Amino acid sequence: IIRSIVRGCGGYLPARTLTNAELAGMVDTSDDWIVQRTGIRERHIAADGELTSDLAVAAARRALDAAGLEPQAIDLIVLATATPDHTFPASAVTVQAKLGITQGAAFDMQAVCSGFVFALATTDSMLRTGGFSRALVIGSETFSRILDWTDRTTCVIFGDGAGAVVLEATPQSGTLADRGVLAARLRSDGRHKDKLYVDGGPSATRTVGFLRMEGREVFRHAVGMMCGAVEDVLAATGTTAADIDWFVPHQANQRIIDASAHKLGIGPEKIVSTVALHGNTSAASIPLALDHAVADGRIKPGDLVMVEAMGGGFTWGAALIRW
Ligand code: ACO
Repeated sequence: IIRSIVRGCGGYLPARTLTNAELAGMVDTSDDWIVQRTGIRERHIAADGELTSDLAVAAARRALDAAGLEPQAIDLIVLATATPDHTFPASAVTVQAKLGITQGAAFDMQAVCSGFVFALATTDSMLRTGGFSRALVIGSETFSRILDWTDRTTCVIFGDGAGAVVLEATPQSGTLADRGVLAARLRSDGRHKDKLYVDGGPSATRTVGFLRMEGREVFRHAVGMMCGAVEDVLAATGTTAADIDWFVPHQANQRIIDASAHKLGIGPEKIVSTVALHGNTSAASIPLALDHAVADGRIKPGDLVMVEAMGGGFTWGAALIRW
């Protein structure tokens, strides 16, 4: 059978960091409040003129380097983002052009913070059905551009960044020992669409708008939804939480991460967390965390890696990868 194998990953963070102390000078908040409620200490902010596609290209180049591949080897680009450069075309085609790729297909995927898991599952399907051979799956966001910098309940939480993985269709034996994406499960429930949304958009207001969030409502649903998706993936693959080597959740905040791992029975030593340094980078958070844990030697070939996310919509999902 064909599996989508991870050939390499890469991340990119804008140079400018914004600390909690700096935020305390902008809105009525404190380092203590932000650290205790979210675990976030600093986040990166894109420079003026530095676009989602620029971040994506930087992450993609690092992933291609890690894979030992030239851009021309890629025939599919799926870019998860809720903050595209423009309403259209898809920022993925800008990434394609900036990388000098003239073959294959490129499109954006919109599932907000779950975007990377949705993009991973979609790309995996497209690779396994044979139409494409090598893909860049990218999460890239410039949430700083849709934040209301006077709203302390949201502006302290998010940051900018991008992460990418190269997936390659490869014949495998069809067992749990196979490398690649072993299973993924995606869910959405639009009844929750007004709990985390942007109050602008081309059709509704002809404006870009600002992010609005009922933080407590998001928190209330997040752990149960994400754990449900993880349990479905475990059941689909005949594995248990004990089999997982690394748990790489969407980096929304440390309390959600810890509560999810606890509920699933995953030990704290298996959690990859970057939220302290990156904040919530939406669709970029998982590939950035993967890159972080590969770079520091934690995630190694053969490891079983569980990724999971939840975001606006609500959307949520999980995927199990043999690295
Ligand atoms: N600094 C200081 N005080 C603040 C701040 C701030 N930045 N923000 C809110 N407060 C105040 C509130 O005004 C409130 O004051 P009040 O009691 O006088 O009314 C008080 O702190 C408590 O507010 P709550 O909203 O109840 O605080 P809570 O403990 O729920 O923490 C938080 C808020 C961190 C947003 C939490 O709800 C959360 O983590 N929610 C999940 C949101 C999330 O992760 N969203 C990301 C997108 S979705 C995803 O990625 C999963």
